[in-house]
Amino acid sequence: MRLKAKTVLVTGGGGYIGSHTVKALQAAGYEAVILDNLVYGHRDLVENVLTAELVEGDIGDRALLDRLFSTYSIAAVIHFAAYAYVGESTANPIKYYANNVCATLTLLEAMIHAGINKLVFSSTCAIYGVPETLPILETHPKQPVNPYGQTKLMVEQILDDFDRAYGLRSVCFRYFNAAGADPVAQLGEDHTPETHLIPLVLEAAAQQRDAVSIFGTNYPTADGTCIRDYIHVSDLADAHVLGLDYLLQGNASQKVNLSNGNGFSVRQVIETAKAVTGCPIKVLEEARRAGDPPALIGSSDKAVSLLGWQPRYPELVDIITHAWRWHQKRHGWQRSDSKFL
Ligand SMILES: NC(=O)c1ccc[n+]([C@@H]2O[C@H](COP(=O)([O-])OP(=O)(O)OC[C@H]3O[C@@H](n4cnc5c(N)ncnc54)[C@H](O)[C@@H]3O)[C@@H](O)[C@H]2O)c1
Repeated sequence: MRLKAKTVLVTGGGGYIGSHTVKALQAAGYEAVILDNLVYGHRDLVENVLTAELVEGDIGDRALLDRLFSTYSIAAVIHFAAYAYVGESTANPIKYYANNVCATLTLLEAMIHAGINKLVFSSTCAIYGVPETLPILETHPKQPVNPYGQTKLMVEQILDDFDRAYGLRSVCFRYFNAAGADPVAQLGEDHTPETHLIPLVLEAAAQQRDAVSIFGTNYPTADGTCIRDYIHVSDLADAHVLGLDYLLQGNASQKVNLSNGNGFSVRQVIETAKAVTGCPIKVLEEARRAGDPPALIGSSDKAVSLLGWQPRYPELVDIITHAWRWHQKRHGWQRSDSKFL
């Protein structure tokens, strides 16, 4: 007799990283129930690609959560639901503290009430602020420079207290820049508005935008542009399955970076995108933006040693090739004669 699959609640499972994680969970034999208010999530991907159960609603709705936890036998929660626009968080911090902290608190209360004591949480490298040392280890000082990063650090601190008081075990994954798409282009990044570099560069390649801006060309890096750490979204998804397995085996709470370990400059991203797409990309060189550190690179040694995580797509060319395939399919962009496709 086949054992009944364990059911996991995935908040924000209609979004970018959440949807890839649901696909990885299903491949690993888990059953996923998605809770998403669809403010940014995509119903079509949940229903047509993932064919997962979708509960359309808000993580701040306590009555809905109580109903959900009494309807399904939930073994653990993977919590992606949050707002994640750094600039908006500075302009409108109330929105960020209300959703990312207060609504998360409601979710945690409902979990404790229902006796669910395992959580995988989407944290971010933004909790570290401006790096003092590279690569950034989990022990690096936490000095967020914007409200978005503050909200994620606050939830990490709440989770420390809830572990001690209520035995709620958690893995907080601190992602660096999530990028790329499902290698077979069933899922991918579809943010509106889009602020991430790789999709913006690909929009310029597809002539969906006039040009892509480089903010600062005189940083102390090899080519003068900022260096960031891009981690493939399917590798992130794999790590969530391993983090979940780890918690379900009864292990202790952890904070774990998920990063590539290699940094790529803005110019490297643009040059790789030109090679992948076979299209010219117009560039505008602009002034530096306040608060942008020259380089952000994370160490993922802990994820490798603790969870046995092995990223499958660390190469920038794979990350951009997968993203390009997805965007072409999603938006009906013209195919190029690129040798990578
Ligand atoms: N994308 C990145 O590079 C990155 C980096 C670090 C951390 N993160 C974190 O990872 C998580 C997922 O990011 P993403 O890029 O997939 O974002 P996303 O916007 O694509 O996904 C978030 C999902 O959560 C849903 N949501 C938001 N608030 C909700 C609420 N109150 N109730 C129910 N659903 C709600 C949205 O509709 C959306 O589907 C976020 O917590 C984000 O802060 C992302």
